[in-house]
Amino acid sequence: MQIALTYNLKKKDSTKPVDYFSEFDSEETISAITGALSKKGHRVLPVNVSEEDVFFYFRKNPVDIVFNIAEGNNRRLRESEVPAILDYLKIPYTGSSAFALALALNKALTKRILKSEEIPTPDFQVFIKGNEELNPDFKFPLIVKPNREGSAKGISADNVVRDVESAYSRIKYIINTYRQEALVEEFIEGRELTVGILENGKTTVLPVLEIDFSSCSKSGEYFYSWKMKEYQGNAEMGLVPTFHCPARLSREEEECVKEAALKTHRAVGCFDISRTDIRLDKKGVPYVLEINPLPGLNPRESNFPMMAYAAGMQYEDIIGDILMSACKRREERN
Ligand SMILES: Nc1ncnc2c1ncn2[C@@H]1O[C@H](COP(=O)(O)OP(=O)(O)OP(=O)(O)O)[C@@H](O)[C@H]1O
Ligand SMILES: [Mg+2]
Repeated sequence: MQIALTYNLKKKDSTKPVDYFSEFDSEETISAITGALSKKGHRVLPVNVSEEDVFFYFRKNPVDIVFNIAEGNNRRLRESEVPAILDYLKIPYTGSSAFALALALNKALTKRILKSEEIPTPDFQVFIKGNEELNPDFKFPLIVKPNREGSAKGISADNVVRDVESAYSRIKYIINTYRQEALVEEFIEGRELTVGILENGKTTVLPVLEIDFSSCSKSGEYFYSWKMKEYQGNAEMGLVPTFHCPARLSREEEECVKEAALKTHRAVGCFDISRTDIRLDKKGVPYVLEINPLPGLNPRESNFPMMAYAAGMQYEDIIGDILMSACKRREERN
C-alpha cells in the first residue's frame, strides 16, 4: 500500500518557550514508524504537517491510508485538524476520529463523560476567567493544569497547591501562559499507572505500567511532571524513575484498573490505540486522569511501546496492529 505518515516534527528554537514543541515527535519516532511500515512492504510518504498544507498535499498525492500521529498546529482542536481534512477528502486514517480526538484533548469534557459512566476521576472545576469561586467542598491539595495540553505541558510541582491563595495564583498563571482554561482537580496521592489498549481484530489491554518516582526524590519531582517527562532517564538531574511492567498490583487491583481503562477507551470512542493515565489511591480506587488517543510511540522511551514489549510484542507489531485495525474498519464501512 501507499501510506502517508502525518506528524509534527520537534524542532529546536530558542525563541519559543521551553515546552513549545514537547507534544511533537522526534526524528527517531518518525523513522521507527517509517521503518516498521516499509518492512511490511508498504511505500511510506512522510508528511510534516507543521510545514505542508495538508489539504493540497492529499489532493495532489493519492494514498491508500494515512498513518496519523499529528498533534496539529492550532490550539483548540489541534489533534482533530488532520483527521477532519482526511474525512473531508474521504481518505481513511489510523487511530481515533476527529471527534474522539477533540473530546480527549479537552480533559474537563472527558471527565464529565467519565463521571456519567461512573468511571472514577478526580473531582474538578474549570476556570475560564480565573476569578470564579473555588468549590468550597474541594479537599486540598489540588493540582492546576492546562485543560487542553499533553506531555504534561505546564505541569510542575508548583501546580500542586495547598491553600486557596496559591490555587488562584496558579490558575491565573495557567490561563495567561497557556491561553486556555485552567482545570483544577483534587490531587490523588497514590501510585502512577498507565494502561495501553491496542486493537488488532480484538481489543487487547496491555500489561499495566507502573511508574515509581521514589528514586527521583532528590530532584524535587515526585510525579509525572513536564520536567520528569522531558528529561526522563537523565541521571545527573536525578530523573530516573523505575518502571514496573506489569505493575505491582493484586489480581483484583489489576482487573479494576484495566476495566477503568477499557471503559474510558469505549466511552470516548477511541479506535486502534489509546493510553489511559490512572492514579490508584490508597483505597484501591483507580482515578482516571485522562485518555491519550495519540500516545507517544518513541521506540525507546515512550510508555506505550514499553507496555507492548512487556506483552512480548516488537515495535513492528504495534505499528502493524494499528494499521491492520484501521484497514479492517475501512473494509467494514465499505
Ligand atoms: N489529579 C491528579 N492527582 C495526582 N497526580 C496528577 C493529577 N493530575 C495530574 N497528575 C500528575 O501529572 C501528570 C500529568 O498529568 P496529565 O496526564 O493530566 O497531563 P498530560 O499533559 O495530558 O500528560 P500526557 O503526557 O500523558 O499527555 C500525571 O501523569 C500525574 O503524575
Ligand atoms: Mg497524561
